[in-house]
Amino acid sequence: MPVIEVVVGDITRERTEAIVTAANESLMGGGGVDGAIHRAAGPRLAEAGAAIGPCDPGDAMVTPGFDLDPPVRHVIHTVGPVWEGGGHGEAEVLASCYRRCLEVADELGVRSIAFPAIATGVYGFPAEEAARIAITTITSAATGLQHVRLIAFDETTGDLLATELARRSASS
Ligand code: APR
Repeated sequence: MPVIEVVVGDITRERTEAIVTAANESLMGGGGVDGAIHRAAGPRLAEAGAAIGPCDPGDAMVTPGFDLDPPVRHVIHTVGPVWEGGGHGEAEVLASCYRRCLEVADELGVRSIAFPAIATGVYGFPAEEAARIAITTITSAATGLQHVRLIAFDETTGDLLATELARRSASS
C-alpha cells in the first residue's frame, strides 16, 4: 500500500509525477481546481484535453503537464459525479474516479500522485462522504504507487480526509 498523506495547499504547487484534475467532460478546462491547473499548465493543456476528450464521469484520461512549475509529467483528468442527492449512483462514480486515476497512474508507471477533493466543489458532493470514498478506494486498491498525496484546499476538507485516513489506518 502506498504512503498516503493529507496536505492543505494548492495542487498546482505539487512535485508529484502526476496530478489529478477534477475536470468536466470536455477536458477543455473550467473553474475550481481545473481552472487553476489549466492556468498553471498553459493553453496546451486544453488543446491536449480537447484532442482526447470527452471523458465520461468516473473515467480518467491523461495528458502531459506542459508548463506546470514545478514540472509535473502527467495531468490525469477525471470527471466526478454531479451530486443529485445520493440516489443516482454518485458514490460509485466517485469511487470509480479514484480507481481509474490509480489504474492510469499504474499504466504510466508513475510512483507518486496528488489528488484534489474530486466533486466536492462545483459538483456539490458532500465532503465527508467524499473523503470516506477517497480513503476507502485508495487504501483498498492494488496499486504500484509509492506515494499518494490528498491535497485539500481548505482546513475543513483537510480535517475530514485526515480523520478518515486515521480511522482507516486504525482499523487495518
Ligand atoms: N488546489 C487544490 N484543490 C483545489 C484548488 C487548488 N488550486 N482549487 C480548488 N480546489 C478544491 C475545491 O476547494 C474543492 O474542494 O478542489 C475541490 C474540487 O472542487 P472543483 O474544482 O469545483 O471540482 P468539482 O466539484 O469536481 O467540479 C468540477 O467544476 O471547475 C469545474 O470544469 C470543472 O465542470 C467541472 C466542475
